Amino acid sequence: MALYTGLPLEWDSIALVKPNAGDVSAALATADIAESQKGWFEQAQSLEDLLYFSVALGTKLVGQIFLHDMDLDQHEAMVGYHIFDAEKRGRGYGTAALGALCHYAFHELGLDRLVMITEFENSASQRIAEKCGFLNIGPAREGPDLIVYERLGTVR
Ligand SMILES: CC(C)(COP(=O)(O)OP(=O)(O)OC[C@H]1O[C@@H](n2cnc3c(N)ncnc32)[C@H](O)[C@@H]1OP(=O)(O)O)[C@@H](O)C(=O)NCCC(=O)NCCS
Repeated sequence: MALYTGLPLEWDSIALVKPNAGDVSAALATADIAESQKGWFEQAQSLEDLLYFSVALGTKLVGQIFLHDMDLDQHEAMVGYHIFDAEKRGRGYGTAALGALCHYAFHELGLDRLVMITEFENSASQRIAEKCGFLNIGPAREGPDLIVYERLGTVR
């Protein structure tokens, strides 16, 4: 685990692909996501419980999506995702990326529980989670402005 190295995982208009270091670093340099969210690619190169994918639209890199805090014994992981530029949001790419990731996690990795934590005010993030079958299971322990979403896969 760390950086995804498999074949492109095509889903609707996008594909989850093997990250290219040069492309990721160029995209992150101009991405308008929080600075705190720009370190996932770097961390993925050393953390074994993180699996990082690039989100590609044709040959263009538009975002990142990853499983983190993966526990293969418990068959569960957390999910994070970002479409790098505002102009590329709201076009269905986030939903497609999360759909592809869920399919890979449940069918290829054998996970059966995915968890996502998002801010109460992040309607787009909540919406794509719901569209991909996640359920709101309440506030996060980390604070009342954070909500936890969960999707269960096949029962082991
Ligand atoms: C969250 C994010 C990944 C979603 O990706 P995306 O490509 O914009 O999402 P999609 O276009 O697939 O879907 C967005 C959905 O949210 C809805 N939405 C967007 N902004 C919204 C808002 N302010 N209020 C309500 N719904 C909103 C859209 O209408 C759409 O739902 P619909 O298809 O039912 O109309 C992307 O917006 C992003 O990267 N944001 C910045 C980083 C971030 O917040 N990451 C998540 C941290 S938990």
